[in-house]
Amino acid sequence: MPYDYENFLVEVKDNIALVTFNRPKALNALSKSVMEELDTIADTLNADDDVWGVIFTGAGEKAFIAGADIKELAALNAINAADYSRWLQEIFMKVEMMRKPTIAAVNGFCLGGGCEFAMACHMRVASETARFGQPEVHLGVIPGAMGTIRLPRLVGKGLAMELILTGKMIRANEAYRLGLVNKVVAEDELLDECFKIMKAIFNNGGLAVRYAIESINHGLTTTPAEGGNIEANLFGLCYATEDSKEGLNAFIEKRDPRFLWK
Ligand code: CAA
Repeated sequence: MPYDYENFLVEVKDNIALVTFNRPKALNALSKSVMEELDTIADTLNADDDVWGVIFTGAGEKAFIAGADIKELAALNAINAADYSRWLQEIFMKVEMMRKPTIAAVNGFCLGGGCEFAMACHMRVASETARFGQPEVHLGVIPGAMGTIRLPRLVGKGLAMELILTGKMIRANEAYRLGLVNKVVAEDELLDECFKIMKAIFNNGGLAVRYAIESINHGLTTTPAEGGNIEANLFGLCYATEDSKEGLNAFIEKRDPRFLWK
């Protein structure tokens, strides 16, 4: 299926969609038009059966995403700023709730709304050149795309407080040490590493992967008891799939499983 966007490059290879934020002159800042297209892309790729996983990265040498578009932020007022924040949150939530695995391939500045977007992806791999931060307080505002919600869940409350209240920028290795990113690799290995992770995921049962994403996402937003209930229901649903019969029998028959991805 051909994809054509003003602010993005989208190509699908080996069932993986590589989605590149393509506004390098503005360090891929998230303008309203970028967000509108991201919203459509999340829906479209979610519905495309040929796409099993999605990797997001940024165009140009310098940035993954340098945040929300500051020129547009400057034009907001107290009423529409709250609406704008909710709109960003809804779109990032849609990305987080995608049924297929997503990886942010962070290739440079990953700041403000850019860091919030990376945190909405299921996994983050950074190049050694990446820089992370929530610098909104430098602008007299706070993160508005759930940075204050997702960052403490990833790195803990104290470190999230430090990052958000100082607005400081940290290097990729520090982000790895804090648990903000899964892995740090050389710049020229970034996409290969993300493709490698995706292909390792594709060796598994497709519906099991989908249900695991759903269970983890819901588990983090509800009580442990309710999360456990959702997990048990999804565990049960796995038994309605051909993949569970194949995976369990393949182990018993001492052979590799042949899973269906659909
Ligand atoms: N919005 C709009 N334009 C941006 C931008 C942003 N977030 N970040 C960079 N740009 C633009 C610059 O204005 C500049 O454009 P011009 O060439 O037309 O002047 C171009 O991108 C290149 O940027 P710099 O010249 O500043 O590049 P640099 O290498 O000197 O600095 C940087 C890089 C440190 C990332 C710096 O650009 C910077 O600090 N950017 C802003 C980062 C930021 O504060 N992000 C948070 C935004 S608020 C937010 O995201 C709110 C939210 O939670 C939703």
